[in-house]
Amino acid sequence: MHNNQTATVKKLDQWIRGEFKELNTRLDNIYFDQDDRSDVNLQPQLTKPLTKKLTDTGQALISDVLKEGNTDNGFDSGYDLLGNVGIYMAACRRHEITEPSREKKSPLIEASALAMQIGASLGVTPRFSTSHLTTHNLAVNGEFKSFTSLDDELLFIDYNTRGILGYKRCADALIKLLPLGISHPLAAEMLTIAKQALNEVIQHNDMLFKCLNPQRFFYCVRPYYKPYRVGQNVYRGANAGDFSGINAIDLLLGLCQGQDPYYSQILVDKFLFMMPEEQAILRDCMRKQSLLDALLSTNKKQVDSDWFQHNAQLFLEVCQLHGRAATQHHQQLVERFIKQMSVNESPAALKNITASGPPLPVLLASLEKLKDLRTAAKREDIPSRFQDIEKLRGLIRYYDENL
Ligand code: HEM
Repeated sequence: MHNNQTATVKKLDQWIRGEFKELNTRLDNIYFDQDDRSDVNLQPQLTKPLTKKLTDTGQALISDVLKEGNTDNGFDSGYDLLGNVGIYMAACRRHEITEPSREKKSPLIEASALAMQIGASLGVTPRFSTSHLTTHNLAVNGEFKSFTSLDDELLFIDYNTRGILGYKRCADALIKLLPLGISHPLAAEMLTIAKQALNEVIQHNDMLFKCLNPQRFFYCVRPYYKPYRVGQNVYRGANAGDFSGINAIDLLLGLCQGQDPYYSQILVDKFLFMMPEEQAILRDCMRKQSLLDALLSTNKKQVDSDWFQHNAQLFLEVCQLHGRAATQHHQQLVERFIKQMSVNESPAALKNITASGPPLPVLLASLEKLKDLRTAAKREDIPSRFQDIEKLRGLIRYYDENL
């Protein structure tokens, strides 16, 4: 809750943190006890009164905010309100009160109007995005916002936030290194911070992999991240990648490149899902020379110097860790919690399994490509930096591959 919120905005926030969460939790426990956990319409006698209460109360609270008109209380307050409206709309999608393939425009007229007004005025998509539930999820009396009070959802949000913060720390260190240059005496310190941050991301991913229950995640958490309609348009679901840090790392290391149409398409599609400050960081990174290019264009006479030998080794270690975290995301998190869980799903249930929308095999192939760019894999069909990384390795006198 932000201090400068109006009374109607506060009421909506309190409801989202209270009754809304209880209703979702009760509904999700009903679905989870069924033989078919993915069918939300199996027991209308139990679920309808709860979904009706959720829809009507949310609509009444949002209508009051809409009636109040533009009460410009600053970016933070507007962004937080967009999150609450979006969280409500995502829950309506989850319980199939709305369904984008069934409708031409969202039946949630007031919520759509408010979301579009705020989204357009702030320069972001008019839906809830990852930062609303992770990096910009204000805790009240020790509790951050969530759809349900299920342990697995809280764990998922917690570890997504840790992962994002770790990537951001790494990106910050690389961004700070740029104006100093790779030969600067402090470059090694920045690269070491980048390494520590990536090691933390890897540890957090590992914890999430071990502790998250795949059934609960797949049936009770993931469905809240589906695409939904706001007004006439369908907006893809939120995912933990919607922040600039991960791409800043890709671009500044040089493992992914802005001129690669596959990669730039990802960036173009992602901009409005990030906060404006994140958008600015990413635009800036897209214009910079990468560290890999800077190292490879170093004057031949400097290659034997201590700074080059030391910093190139550290740079390669950062690349290796970035690749390791990407492999972990793909081979552990996506594999266990999405791919394996989808094996027994019916075609109808599979249709909307991915947050971004494309069919699962298409999404998996695309994520694999990203992983292969980040690991500089030996692949001829994508602009992997395999050869350039090999070339750099060849310049290091005592290359140590064991991290
Ligand atoms: C249970 C855990 C997780 C699963 C199952 C998972 C799955 C996925 C999937 C399927 C996508 C593709 C987009 C979509 O359809 O949603 C994706 C994107 C992404 N996720 Fe995760 N994820 C998990 C946790 C995390 C964590 C903790 C991070 C760390 C910040 C992360 C970082 C990313 C990034 C950066 C992307 C965008 C694509 C990319 O740049 O690689 N994910 N994730």
